[in-house]
Amino acid sequence: MQVFTNASLKPYHTFSIDISCDVLVIIESVEDLIQVYQDAAWEDLPKLMIGKGSNLLFTEHYSGVVIVNRIMGKRVSEEADAWNIHVNAGEDWPSIVEWSIEQGYAGLENLALIPGCAGSAPIQNIGAYGKEFKDFCQYVDVLTLDTFESKRLTPEQCRFGYRDSVFKHELYKKVVITGVGLSLDKDWVPCINYGSLQTIPSDELSPKRIYQEICRVRMAKLPDPEEQGNAGSFFKNPLISKAHFDKLKTDFPDIVGYDSGEQVKVAAGWLIDHCDLKGFQVGGAMVHPNQALVLVNVNHASAKDIVQLAATVREKVRVQYQVELEHEVRFMGSTTETYLSELVG
Ligand code: FAD
Ligand code: EPU
Repeated sequence: MQVFTNASLKPYHTFSIDISCDVLVIIESVEDLIQVYQDAAWEDLPKLMIGKGSNLLFTEHYSGVVIVNRIMGKRVSEEADAWNIHVNAGEDWPSIVEWSIEQGYAGLENLALIPGCAGSAPIQNIGAYGKEFKDFCQYVDVLTLDTFESKRLTPEQCRFGYRDSVFKHELYKKVVITGVGLSLDKDWVPCINYGSLQTIPSDELSPKRIYQEICRVRMAKLPDPEEQGNAGSFFKNPLISKAHFDKLKTDFPDIVGYDSGEQVKVAAGWLIDHCDLKGFQVGGAMVHPNQALVLVNVNHASAKDIVQLAATVREKVRVQYQVELEHEVRFMGSTTETYLSELVG
């Protein structure tokens, strides 16, 4: 376990904002984790477990202990019809996907290049290009923070939804995730409904070919946090009623939406783009010029710049389409989680 006081968080989150915390601890085992929670010196300090910080915006100095999860390790077991992979929570998700494809364990290819740790994947049920974490989840291992017991949750207990799970609700602040179990069906079925995936010739279809295409599309569309700080889609794609969507469709015939049960999921990127906000800047923060759903740190942005930019985007979308955007990115204040509505009204 490594401990740093008054530490910079800049290397530990992908927005690349110069911000700090009272204590930063890098843990490598569940025993380290328990030790951090039981240490008398830190008893009264708030604690925040993070993975790679790729879905986080620290809005100010964090007056507490940031725990960086680096609990590593994975193991594979084989069944007649599936590969079962246990992955400890600190493993890097994109590396796990790449490794699984190389090993011939097909299935995770659509979830390539999503930054973050494996243990963070269940929290917002990461998803891309037609697949979500829940499609492969066999179980999620957690440590309960009241009794320090380990528990194994079934996918049903995780209550996965679109960018949602029990970890944002009933189990929020009550558990930390220590490992995940993935089950990959040997009877591989390609998922190629999304755009350019449909152009792959059928005789070339393989997990590796899809993996390569997803990597190509993602690298072309999304800014690399190493070059421009960002946290991926800043807002979720909002769900609105069919009646509301039909009305918008009359005024904006090109609007993009997908049926989602009784509702329609609208492409927030389209809404923001068609408010003419691409390239719009507040201080060092900018709406990405190619993918309007991503806010980027282009020039030493402060957290305030990002918050003000997000507020402007949300307001313009509300006025133009009467649609309320909800941020996907988690905001951390000085001691607890906070929200755009709390920061700017
Ligand atoms: P962090 O940002 O470190 O943490 C996120 C939240 O989870 C925080 O509230 C944190 O306290 C909590 N947390 C972290 N670890 C634990 C734990 N072990 N136990 C309990 N709580 C924990 N997401 C998608 O779904 N699809 C995409 O296609 C996608 N593309 C992206 C592209 C880019 C360029 C970027 C920067 C982000 C993208 N994201 C995407 C968002 C991000 O990759 C995911 O949300 C990812 O799962 C975050 O992992 P992390 O380890 O960085 O989590
Ligand atoms: N669009 C525009 N202008 C833009 C951006 C998008 O018109 O500036 C349109 C596109 O043309 C397309 C539609 O909006 O018709 C959807 O765009 P895209 O396919 O790029 O996907 P997205 O809805 O913006 C979602 C996820 C991504 C995920 C991709 C691929 C959310 C909030 N975002 O983005 O996840 O990688 O689909 O499946 O659901 C993330 O969560 O951080 C993330 C990157």
